[in-house]
Amino acid sequence: MDTIILGIESSCDDTSAAVVRDRELLSNVIAGQDVHRQYGGVVPELASRAHQQNIVPVVDRALKEAGIEKEDICAVAFTRGPGLLGSLLVGTSFAKGFSAALRIPMIEVNHLQAHILVHFILSEHSADQLPRFPFICLLVSGGHTQLVLVNNHHQMEILGRSIDDAAGEAFDKCGKILGLPYPGGPHVDRLASEGDPFRFTFNKPRLEGFDYSFSGLKTSFLYFIRDRLKEDPAFIEQNRTDLAASLQQTIVDILMNKLRRASKKTGIRQIALAGGVSANSGLRSAIRKEAGKHGWEVHIPPIGFTTDNAAMIAITGYYRYLKGEFASEDISPVARMYF
Ligand code: KG4
Ligand code: ZN
Repeated sequence: MDTIILGIESSCDDTSAAVVRDRELLSNVIAGQDVHRQYGGVVPELASRAHQQNIVPVVDRALKEAGIEKEDICAVAFTRGPGLLGSLLVGTSFAKGFSAALRIPMIEVNHLQAHILVHFILSEHSADQLPRFPFICLLVSGGHTQLVLVNNHHQMEILGRSIDDAAGEAFDKCGKILGLPYPGGPHVDRLASEGDPFRFTFNKPRLEGFDYSFSGLKTSFLYFIRDRLKEDPAFIEQNRTDLAASLQQTIVDILMNKLRRASKKTGIRQIALAGGVSANSGLRSAIRKEAGKHGWEVHIPPIGFTTDNAAMIAITGYYRYLKGEFASEDISPVARMYF
């Protein structure tokens, strides 16, 4: 019999619901929240309020687009963490109500594991090749930067992580310094395509092992621009594309350096990308270039599956469902969650 899972994602500022039938994606509805744009970042209180408004219509649409009835669903999977507590509470409470009303199990999902398992979704955009275990995943999002050794759908180990800011934060905070709207990542990416990536150089961290650090880069970028603005108030305006390209090049270099070392040390050449920053065109082309040099088989998610979505929650729920890993009805969300 087919396994139909409803996935719910509400960890940050996207309310999303998706339906999978086994690995096949039947629908994936995402409602973003423009309300944060004017504040230059996500305002937690406004995010949870918007989730409350969006969750019912988003789930409704996901079921309609999937062409299924509520009664067809075998289990409801939801993001338990990590994320903003108030936002997570909306998805968790909805999942509880849904599971109680339909008498179906609930499945808790770790948002970060879900970003990685996005590679196993079967959709019109999926690649022919699935990653083979074990593989290394560079998980780069707005809140996390991690190198993860993925042993199977359930067991993952963190080889390295950022000790301060995430790569997405570096894009967003430096984007803000350049006067770009929030989130800055996609804007930096777009400007970078017209700029010279080697025009300016910024500090790169010197960290042992596989850990990352991005707060130094942000400070170096800020001081550099502050000093140049003193001499020339139009410095940003006149150099925006080169600044964006050089910043992106630095972030990509930092990310690739540790990935290369992790692959060398472990001997693993199955390499995957995941998370919002994996939409970055500089990172996508850098990893493809490295693949040729080192004999890597790389797995890059379709753009639509890079940022937050419930399709990744539903597919993770599917694998947990097969193992019979269900949540108890008194489960609560957690802001910090580890593998
Ligand atoms: O995974 P995600 O949707 O949310 C979290 O779980 O954090 O990632 C959002 C992050 C933001 O920092 C955003 O600026 C970044 O992904 N991002 C990008 C691009 N698209 C999204 N960063 C660089 N280039 C992009 N094209
Ligand atoms: Zn995410």
